[in-house]
Amino acid sequence: MSEFDQQPDRIYQHRQGEVGDFAFDSAVARVFPDMIQRSVPGYAETVAMSGIIAGRYAQANTRLYDLGCSLGAVTLAMRHGVKAEGCRIIGLDNSDSMIERARHYVALDDGRVEVELHCADITQVELSNASVTALNFVLQFIAPSERLALLQKIAAATCDGGALILSEKLCFDDIEQRIQTELHHDFKRANGYSDLEIAQKRSAIENVLIPETEAVHIERLRQAGFRHVVRWYQCFNFASFLAIK
Ligand SMILES: C[S@@+](CC[C@H](N)C(=O)[O-])C[C@H]1O[C@@H](n2cnc3c(N)ncnc32)[C@H](O)[C@@H]1O
Repeated sequence: MSEFDQQPDRIYQHRQGEVGDFAFDSAVARVFPDMIQRSVPGYAETVAMSGIIAGRYAQANTRLYDLGCSLGAVTLAMRHGVKAEGCRIIGLDNSDSMIERARHYVALDDGRVEVELHCADITQVELSNASVTALNFVLQFIAPSERLALLQKIAAATCDGGALILSEKLCFDDIEQRIQTELHHDFKRANGYSDLEIAQKRSAIENVLIPETEAVHIERLRQAGFRHVVRWYQCFNFASFLAIK
């Protein structure tokens, strides 16, 4: 068995005395593909379509950024979707465990587009010459007070006609919040998570993942400097937006 083998997610299977805050540590990195596919409705579609979107919006001799790349799923989808010449993909994540594994998976991939992976805090790095940037279920983990500055930095680094893919867990007003949450929990149960696992994960993540409404996202993307914002996908309480500069 290799240290890079992926394991099934059993992190919250047994009752924990006190459930600590969720972190993207080595235990999570080991089970991450299983965890995200069984937890995020539509995750596979957002990854696959980031390749299609990169194919349309990547411009020659520019960079594509995968911010909060985890194991590099979007990096690889973009790598195989890009048609423009001279592009380079840069994947950034501030979890060492994620980047170490991402390097392993990218090395196994035979795509021709150059890829760089770095362990870095996306709120601190400089970005430039971007035509496509992905924030695939990442902004929700950034402190709300820092979100506008990050989006402004991305918009400023993006060339005219370039794009940001922003996928997020959403929250809703009134009754829709209950309806969408019930459906999300049904999705998790259908994927084999017990009520205990769902409850413990929820408590671990509630101070760490802060969802916002679609209206807040769209208004902030415009304020950051994107001219057009399109919600191209939604599955229950998870959605993905395409913001064009
Ligand atoms: C839900 S995962 C993203 C999934 C990934 N984009 C994909 O499509 O497979 C969130 C990731 O964001 C990373 N992250 C959170 N805050 C970050 C920050 N400030 N800088 C860099 N990465 C961050 C976490 O380490 C984690 O790997």
